[in-house]
Amino acid sequence: MNKPTPDSRLAVVTGGLGGLGIEICRQLAQAGRRVVALDLTSRAERIDAFRQTLAEFGDAVAFEPVDVSDYEACAATVARIESSHGGIDVLVNAAGITRDASLRKMTPQQWQDLLRVNLDGVFNMSRPVVEGMCARGFGRIVNISSVNGQTGQFGQTNYSAAKAGVHGFSMALARETARKGVTVNTVSPGYCDTPMVAAVPEDVRAQIVAGIPVGRLGAPADIARAVVFLAADDAGYITGANLPVNGGYFMSF
Ligand code: CAA
Repeated sequence: MNKPTPDSRLAVVTGGLGGLGIEICRQLAQAGRRVVALDLTSRAERIDAFRQTLAEFGDAVAFEPVDVSDYEACAATVARIESSHGGIDVLVNAAGITRDASLRKMTPQQWQDLLRVNLDGVFNMSRPVVEGMCARGFGRIVNISSVNGQTGQFGQTNYSAAKAGVHGFSMALARETARKGVTVNTVSPGYCDTPMVAAVPEDVRAQIVAGIPVGRLGAPADIARAVVFLAADDAGYITGANLPVNGGYFMSF
């Protein structure tokens, strides 16, 4: 383990209290990054669990509340982090929700709520962060998409659209920042052992697991491993890429 020091690179992880986010924070800290996790304040019990899980890293891991669907709040949070912790070197956009319903039953509210968090949230954080990264000549942005953005999923027109959009966003921004030392990539998890997937009806989930060649749900650690890889200092030649981590559930070339 590389212990984070006050000079270590600074990583910001949205959805930092979530099933994947907390493990991404842990592995980034283990890789020697200072980490600021962002998530909603309304999750008091999750904030406690987060603090306990990552207590070994002391001040190197912090929490800041923000709603990623609110651009002004994101810009203010980025400014506050940059003035108190220094420039942001790594941004992991892991905040995401589901509002599953077949399109014939989906309300405009379910569509809008999902797009505002899962897609607007990526813009709202990347926009204020990217300026400093380009000015300093180094940055790593890793956006969490999903296998369901690649394949589509019954009941997820909103989620699949947003997650496919996340990769389109990543490719476009990767072109804009490539000459500035800033890479932008996507990780596309399959079905993982998280509260989000636990909420899928049991019969549907069993059918999905049966179709995973590796034979199990992904562990949050499987996803964090890929994020840390793409966020590494020596990963500078990988940009605009999508790294699928789905146990073979969807294979493509
Ligand atoms: N494929 C084909 N047909 C399906 C289907 C499927 N997967 N699921 C339901 N149907 C059929 C039903 O058999 C039924 O058919 P009949 O009308 O002929 O009886 C019909 O569609 C029911 O349609 P409804 O709109 O009434 O569906 P519903 O309201 O009962 O439930 C649902 C739909 C809420 C989407 C439910 O199926 C569900 O929750 N599915 C899980 C979706 C899912 O996988 N979400 C992933 C969440 S985790 C995640 O997103 C993380 C990640 O990145 C991987």
